Amino acid sequence: MTGESEPLILGIESTCDETGVALVRGTELLIDRTATSMDEYARYGGIIPEIASRAHLESFIPTLDSALHEGGASLSDVDAIAVSAGPGLVGSLTVGICAAKSLALALDKPLYGVNHVIGHMAVDGLAEGPLPERFIGLVVSGGHSNILLVENWVDGVRELGGTLDDAAGEAFDKVGRLLGLPYPGGPHVDRLSQQGDRDAIRFPRGLHAVKDKDRYRYDFSFSGLKTAVARYVEGEKARGAELRAEDICAGFSEAVNDSLTAKTVRACLDTGCDTIVIGGGFSANSRLRQLIQERAEGAGLTVRMPPMRFCTDNGAQIAALGARLVAGGAAPSDWDFSPDSAMPLTQTWMAPTNADMAVVSEYECCSPNR
Ligand code: KG4
Ligand code: ZN
Repeated sequence: MTGESEPLILGIESTCDETGVALVRGTELLIDRTATSMDEYARYGGIIPEIASRAHLESFIPTLDSALHEGGASLSDVDAIAVSAGPGLVGSLTVGICAAKSLALALDKPLYGVNHVIGHMAVDGLAEGPLPERFIGLVVSGGHSNILLVENWVDGVRELGGTLDDAAGEAFDKVGRLLGLPYPGGPHVDRLSQQGDRDAIRFPRGLHAVKDKDRYRYDFSFSGLKTAVARYVEGEKARGAELRAEDICAGFSEAVNDSLTAKTVRACLDTGCDTIVIGGGFSANSRLRQLIQERAEGAGLTVRMPPMRFCTDNGAQIAALGARLVAGGAAPSDWDFSPDSAMPLTQTWMAPTNADMAVVSEYECCSPNR
C-alpha cells in the first residue's frame, strides 16, 4: 500500500551517460528527471568516460532542482537516499556517489549504494503495481544479458546464467557499426529489422546444441552470431550483391531474441516461477517484447516489461530499489563505500561491513548511517 506513512526515497543515477534523479514513495513514482550526454558520442562511435563524468557534474544540480521543483518536494521531505554504486563507469558513478554522500551527510539521512542492474527490474514495480515475491528476471543492456532468480530484494538474487561474450545490446551495436549505422546501433538495427523478413537469412543460435543444453542451460553467446553476420556481409559484398540490410537485421534480431526468450521461459518453468520481469536498455527492443510475450503466454506465464521511458537508465529504478531495500529492512551502507564497476549481480546493495547489522528494523533503517 502506498501512503504518506511510507518513506520518501530520493534516487540518484549516474552509471553511464544518463544523470537521473527521482522521488519514490512505496511503489509510487512521484517524479523522474533525466539529463543525457548521449548526443555527444555519435561522432566518436562510443561513450567517452571522461566526457560522461563531466556531463554528470554539470547536470546533477539542475536535474535535482528540476525534480524537486516539479515534484513539489523539498530535500527535507526525503527519508532516505539511494544511489547507483555499480556496475558502470567508475568516473560517472563517482560523481553520483559523491553528490549522494554530500546530501545524506548534510541532511542527516541514511544512504544506500545500490546495484544499478537490479534496479532495472525493480522499476517494473512502479509501472503496473507491485511485483510478485518470486520471479525470473531477464536483464539485457549494452553490458549485461543475464537471467536472475529473485526471491527477495535484500539478499535473494541468484544469477542463473549470462552471456559468455557479448551482451545483447553490445552485439546489436556491433552489427549496427558493421552496417554503417550511427551509434548506438541497437535502436537502428531494431528499426530496420521491423521492415525485413526474419526468415530470409537464418543465422546461428549460440549454445543451443544438445551438448550445451545442461552445461549452458541459461547462458548466451552472441559473438559467433556477430561473426556470422560479418561473414555474410563480406560474402555479399564480394559477389557484388546489394546488401539487404533489413533482412540481415531481421535475421540477426531473430537469432538474438530466440535465445533470450527461449532460455528465460525455460528458467521460469524450471524454477516454478510464474512471472518474468524484463529490464535494461535492450528491453526496448521490439522483437524481444513481442516474442517474450508470445512465448510466456504459450507457457502460461506472466511478463512484466518496463514502459519505454524506463528502458533507458533513470533515477526511478534506483529510487524503486532503494524503496524495496528500506521496506525489506536493509541497513544503510557504510559511509566509505566506493563505486564498484563490476558489482556482482547477486549484490543488491553495499551492505554495511558489520554483517550483523545488514538487516535491521524498518524504524532503524530510516535513521542515518551509524
Ligand atoms: O541499459 P542501457 O541504457 O545502458 C547500459 O548498457 O547499461 O542499454 C543500452 C544498450 C545499447 O547497447 C543500445 O544499443 C541498446 O541498449 N538498445 C537497443 C534498443 N534500444 C537500446 N538494442 C536493440 N533494440 C533497441 N530498441
Ligand atoms: Zn542500465
